[in-house]
Amino acid sequence: MSNDPLLQPYKLKHLTLRNRIIVTSHEPAYPDDGMPKERYRAYTVERAKGGVAMTMTAGSAAVSKDSPPVFNNLLAYKDEIVPWLREMTDAVHEEGAAIMIQLTHLGRRTRWDKGDWLPVVAPSHHREASHRAFPKKLEDWDIQRIIKDFADAAERMKAGGMDGVELEAYGHLIDQFTSPLTNELDGPYGGSLDNRMRFCFDVFRAMRERVGDDFILGVRYTADECLLGGNGKAEGIEISRRLRDSGLIDYLNVIRGHIDTDAGLTDVIPIQGMASAPHLDFAGDVRAATKFPTFHAAKIQDVATARHAIATGKVDMIGMTRAHITDPHILRKIIEKREDDIRPCVGANYCLDRIYQGGMAFCIHNAATGREETMPHSIPKADLRRKIVIVGAGPAGLEAARVAAERGHEVVVFEAANNPGGQIRLTAQNERRREMIGIIDWRMSQCQKLGVTFHFNSWAEADMIAAEKPDVVIIATGGLPHTEVLSRGNDLVVSSWDIISGDVKPGTNVLVFDDAGDHAGLQAAETLAKAGAKVEIMTPDRSFAPEVMAMNLVPYMRSLQKLDVTFTVTYRLDAAEKSGNQIIAHVGSDYGGVARQQVVDQIVVNHGTIPLDDLYFELKPGSRNLGEVSYDELLTGAPQTVDRNPAGTYQLFRIGDAVAARNTHAAIYDALRLAKDL
Ligand SMILES: Cc1cc2nc3c(=O)[nH]c(=O)nc-3n(C[C@H](O)[C@H](O)[C@H](O)COP(=O)(O)O)c2cc1C
Ligand code: SF4
Repeated sequence: MSNDPLLQPYKLKHLTLRNRIIVTSHEPAYPDDGMPKERYRAYTVERAKGGVAMTMTAGSAAVSKDSPPVFNNLLAYKDEIVPWLREMTDAVHEEGAAIMIQLTHLGRRTRWDKGDWLPVVAPSHHREASHRAFPKKLEDWDIQRIIKDFADAAERMKAGGMDGVELEAYGHLIDQFTSPLTNELDGPYGGSLDNRMRFCFDVFRAMRERVGDDFILGVRYTADECLLGGNGKAEGIEISRRLRDSGLIDYLNVIRGHIDTDAGLTDVIPIQGMASAPHLDFAGDVRAATKFPTFHAAKIQDVATARHAIATGKVDMIGMTRAHITDPHILRKIIEKREDDIRPCVGANYCLDRIYQGGMAFCIHNAATGREETMPHSIPKADLRRKIVIVGAGPAGLEAARVAAERGHEVVVFEAANNPGGQIRLTAQNERRREMIGIIDWRMSQCQKLGVTFHFNSWAEADMIAAEKPDVVIIATGGLPHTEVLSRGNDLVVSSWDIISGDVKPGTNVLVFDDAGDHAGLQAAETLAKAGAKVEIMTPDRSFAPEVMAMNLVPYMRSLQKLDVTFTVTYRLDAAEKSGNQIIAHVGSDYGGVARQQVVDQIVVNHGTIPLDDLYFELKPGSRNLGEVSYDELLTGAPQTVDRNPAGTYQLFRIGDAVAARNTHAAIYDALRLAKDL
């Protein structure tokens, strides 16, 4: 038996958990019609297969119809969920893991224009900034109805084979009661802490009566709202003790902070560049004060920190949730003493931001997550070893190299720069986004283990490729900044990359024209402002940086607001004109606003990239498929068989930004999807 603290079993009431790592509740927004169907099941089961002790599924499954599914939540108020749950829980149990589900009523943390269009409810009329709905103040009949809904839902969860239910009590209805900031009720459910906690205990009591003792009940709650006038640490410890003393629950899952704003949420679920394990000591304080089973998760991305959390007795079970979204097989790799092979979570929060904007959680650099039905986490060997030449060692090229090498092929990579990474290397120039380089470092170390040959400082020409006698050539050369967007004066502008890379010195009075709305625009603005420039970001869109998304925007805003960067939306830079050592920016609007002129000394354009595709077109005539991809074969997971040129000697493919400007996830998905069937 291993003496690794992480691998010690843990007894939670009647359950024996096989080790100390859990996946905490999270809603990946995969439900179909509110049900955990095939995609959901495959995703959940993959983590169980990977060895995790317990997977806590369904963040925020809705117990009531007036808790509308604002991020495609599971609908725990429907009876039809039971058989779907049963299929999932049976499959997870077969893999040796426990499974729980998180139930909630979102209260004001949702929108009335989702689901059944019922009014949103809360113990006050105060609106939550993130979701913007003005709630109805709860009436007595609402409270009794919702308590019963919780009990009914808990009974369904038990019938569905769950080992237990966790209640969400940070930012949702339960702690909207508990917090003095959001509870303005009179009478039994408002006023004193006793009264404000009454709803929580009524809910637990009603659930316990239905599910009996042989079922785990737990609570994920904020033990310090970190808000003026809210429950602070002292109240949080008192709440923790009362929860323990109620005799109704089996563990505490500690959160520190508040989630009613994007900024608050980002402190609770820290993004890249923020401190590792920022609330672990706090969770340890709660455990010390209560001596009760304590769980916690918040940016514990690496095994060493998780081990420290358990070894030092800070918590009983440690959550590695996003870490498991990135690599579902962490435990297997720990057991096999292959920790170096764990794909690192780089804290990009692409997963989280997407559940609002894109509709499904995907990992920025594991394209198999959430696509377990079609994309493998472990790449099977090919029947036939082939020679595969890849041009470009950015995320797309490296993913193609890794996957092709896992297939057993001979892989050669040419890269023009002296380092791998492409655009990610630029991104990682920002101190806060340095973790992004993990995407490259992990692939490089996997490729090196798999024997991939790299030629850096090598501008690949067609004859160099031919000399390799490849069976397959993959062009992953990326793109170059596209700045030719003005009607006049394109020669007067520089690109966001010029600024980020340091190739161009920052001006002093700078207009950043950003109609790509991605990270590069904000990153360039931050670089400029930090160098002392006065910066205005202008976009013709109705909001700035729409591709950056909510939680990713927070660290930028924290920095840019301090640096006094200004934002102008709905205006478009039309042209630029030289005037002495200044530039006149001619500004117009798609809305017919009055055209105006601004004088600056530097204009930075952020407008995505144009593909670097010369080599692809040069190689096209010599290929068997003439560069054509069969989308039918690609999407059904079949090998590519297009054969349009019998004289061709290789198959030719193009992936990532070498095709069209997209993002890191799209580039990696292109590569995995193609290379897994080569
Ligand atoms: C896509 C996604 C959805 C989430 N949804 C919920 C949720 O509904 N309820 C909840 O308590 N936590 C939710 N979380 C938070 C996680 O449970 C966890 O607390 C958070 O990711 C921090 O832990 P980590 O650093 O180990 O990932 C979500 C996280 C992610 C990535
Ligand atoms: S998207 Fe980023 S934060 Fe989310 S799991 Fe992947 S690497 Fe981690």
